[in-house]
Amino acid sequence: MAEVKFFGSADMPLEMHKVRIIQKLNLLPIDERLKAISEAGNNTFLLKNREVFLDMLTDSGTNAMSDRQLAAMMTADDSYAGSETFYRLEAKIREVFDTKYYLPAHQGRACENILAQTLITKPGMIVPMNYHFTTAKAHISRFGAEIAEIVGDEGLEAKSSNPFKGNLDPEKLNALIKERKEDIAFVRIEAGTNLIGGQPVSMANFKEISAICRREGLILVVDASLLADNLYFIKTREEEYKDVPISDIMREIGSLSDIIYFSARKLGCARGGGICLHRDDLMERIRELIPLYEGFLTYGGMSVREMEALTVGLDETLDMDMIAQAPQFIKHMVDELSALDIPVVTPAGGLGCHLNAGEFLDHLPQNKYPSGALATALYIVSGIRGMERGTLSEQRNPDGTEPLAHMELLRLALPRRVFTLSQIKYAIDRINWLYQNRRLIGGLNFVEEPRILRFFFGRLKPDSDWQIKLTEKFKEDFGESL
Ligand SMILES: Cc1ncc(COP(=O)(O)O)c(C=O)c1O
Repeated sequence: MAEVKFFGSADMPLEMHKVRIIQKLNLLPIDERLKAISEAGNNTFLLKNREVFLDMLTDSGTNAMSDRQLAAMMTADDSYAGSETFYRLEAKIREVFDTKYYLPAHQGRACENILAQTLITKPGMIVPMNYHFTTAKAHISRFGAEIAEIVGDEGLEAKSSNPFKGNLDPEKLNALIKERKEDIAFVRIEAGTNLIGGQPVSMANFKEISAICRREGLILVVDASLLADNLYFIKTREEEYKDVPISDIMREIGSLSDIIYFSARKLGCARGGGICLHRDDLMERIRELIPLYEGFLTYGGMSVREMEALTVGLDETLDMDMIAQAPQFIKHMVDELSALDIPVVTPAGGLGCHLNAGEFLDHLPQNKYPSGALATALYIVSGIRGMERGTLSEQRNPDGTEPLAHMELLRLALPRRVFTLSQIKYAIDRINWLYQNRRLIGGLNFVEEPRILRFFFGRLKPDSDWQIKLTEKFKEDFGESL
């Protein structure tokens, strides 16, 4: 995205693309929104798309595709084994990450399943990481290991000026190695930490953690699902990388890791994923599971059309105009909300704008699920669908106790190149109204609570008639407006 200065107004993000295909949106009246969220068990995952105005649930599989990606999909070469499409993708991955092997998988969590199964080799193992992602943790726990979250202390502070709050703390890693080296299955760095505000990892940190892993003979696994945003932050926030081409930054991350896996629903703006690696021994162990769970080694559960789109999508990730769009829009939203004194995670990260629900609803305890309650309230007053990233997204301990999340966030994802600035301004306006009326928002209780990944299909109900009162206040203030 070009650095364009404005003459008559404050600087703002300027799209370096134009919209050529559109999808009509629907904004239901507020009474219908209230009914819809109640029927969805107060879980935004269970809303139907036709009930949603701005879908800020996730960036997963919802990024806008380019004309070049769509064109490439038409030239896909289909076959069970050995398609040209696969070899084009494999060559692109080799070019961008400089890794020797690429094992395809149908999405990010499929890679996590396979890696956990391969690398967790005995009971009682531990996986140190900057921070967990829900599906990564679920697979690691499923194979009997525990996770150790050793992000730097500031990573868990909502407000900060640290430009790399996603960094893994090297001292905490060294301490853990001293104590339990034999139990460490692998070390995981998540580029652009999903659950703590899309906060990036610096190249200096990648280097330091890689050096520790090499010294100790530990396997370093990088989750590159959110790498596009992280690349932008390395280039714009790390002085010595300001003039380094994105392609060199990506290859450097490739050279520092043993294994890189990714969700192509995010990285590459397509659908699919895969595991990229250097070592022959690891490749042979992991390869066995691909045909078992994913499909033959030249498609891994992906359609050839998606593989073609991914090849082009990875190529476009090397373009600063492309990777800057989401972080710049997110920054605009974060800056505007901060100016209104609305609590948001700072500095602005990748993936989306994160409302600090803990502070927004400081009258609610965590076991009333403030992030989930805020998600329902925002949907009711705006038709915007966000995602709870707090205690609801946690999983109960084996003894049934409920861990409270480190942070209570409502994530408003900005899928790449999807929303216009006026839609962002609408979101800011409705969040502002909601903040002024925040004391009307009450809590939620579970009525159906699944054992695993409960946030996906759990059902809840409000702990009073607060949603009705919120709706009445909206009508008082906005009259007939949608
Ligand atoms: C950091 C991270 N890792 C892994 C995944 C899992 O990827 P997928 O949704 O393709 O299974 C996600 C998805 O949101 C993610 O954000």
